[in-house]
Amino acid sequence: MDPTPVAPAVIAHARGLVKTYGTGETTVRALDGIDVDFARGRLTAIMGPSGSGKSTLMHCMAGLDRATAGSVVVDGDEIGRMSERQLTRLRRTRLGFVFQAYNLVPTLTAAENITLPLDIARRPVDRAHFDAVVAAVGLGDRLSHRPSELSGGQQQRVACARALVSRPAVVFADEPTGNLDSHSSGEVLGFLRRSVDDLGQSVVMVTHDPNAASIAHRVVFLGDGRLVGELLDPTAGTILDALRELS
Ligand SMILES: Nc1ncnc2c1ncn2[C@@H]1O[C@H](COP(=O)(O)OP(=O)(O)OP(=O)(O)O)[C@@H](O)[C@H]1O
Ligand SMILES: [Mg+2]
Repeated sequence: MDPTPVAPAVIAHARGLVKTYGTGETTVRALDGIDVDFARGRLTAIMGPSGSGKSTLMHCMAGLDRATAGSVVVDGDEIGRMSERQLTRLRRTRLGFVFQAYNLVPTLTAAENITLPLDIARRPVDRAHFDAVVAAVGLGDRLSHRPSELSGGQQQRVACARALVSRPAVVFADEPTGNLDSHSSGEVLGFLRRSVDDLGQSVVMVTHDPNAASIAHRVVFLGDGRLVGELLDPTAGTILDALRELS
């Protein structure tokens, strides 16, 4: 049987993705055969109960972890065939990450944190794009501050800017608002959505929050390591209905 065809508007996809942890009786099948497409220039949310495999899927899609079976293609390249070196290069130059913990370097200023991935990859900073990203996150007057001098929401906006400054093919965000109050969440979500609408980014975001997921173009639902549903143009209401139906 041929695998499901992939449309050109897909920036990243997985086919038959399996990830197991451990061996013998303690084996956990975190991903149990996932076929999923993530659209270019769209925001896709991933939802599902704790332990359903959301982070594992993100890590396998983003080359942070190797799948046990199946294939992952990001921006046209099969990442299962890449060496560790190629994977590192892919992560540094073509992917952006936002985690629940902001993971900023405490001794660097906001501006230095934002350009750090480019500096590590020895790539030049496109000043116009840097300015556009900084304006979009609304941090123009905070660039010389260190993380300890910023609120949680501001720190996460720095992390978002860091993920976007290299114009990655796709940004993976794992519960980016998980540590934030509702006001800061709104700021970060607004920014992620604008990065799609105004900067043409492709974003994949894991969240437990129906309000957060409602800013996405599409929500995919995981359960026990499988894709169990999806919603297009979701609202918080339709997401809650879907979650109720799935549980
Ligand atoms: N490094 C690991 N070693 C062993 N088991 C793991 C490992 N990482 C994840 N798992 C298991 O894989 C399953 C999926 O975990 P995962 O972290 O992907 O869930 P999740 O959907 O992100 O959950 P949460 O909403 O709590 O973050 C869980 O049963 C988890 O215990
Ligand atoms: Mg998780």
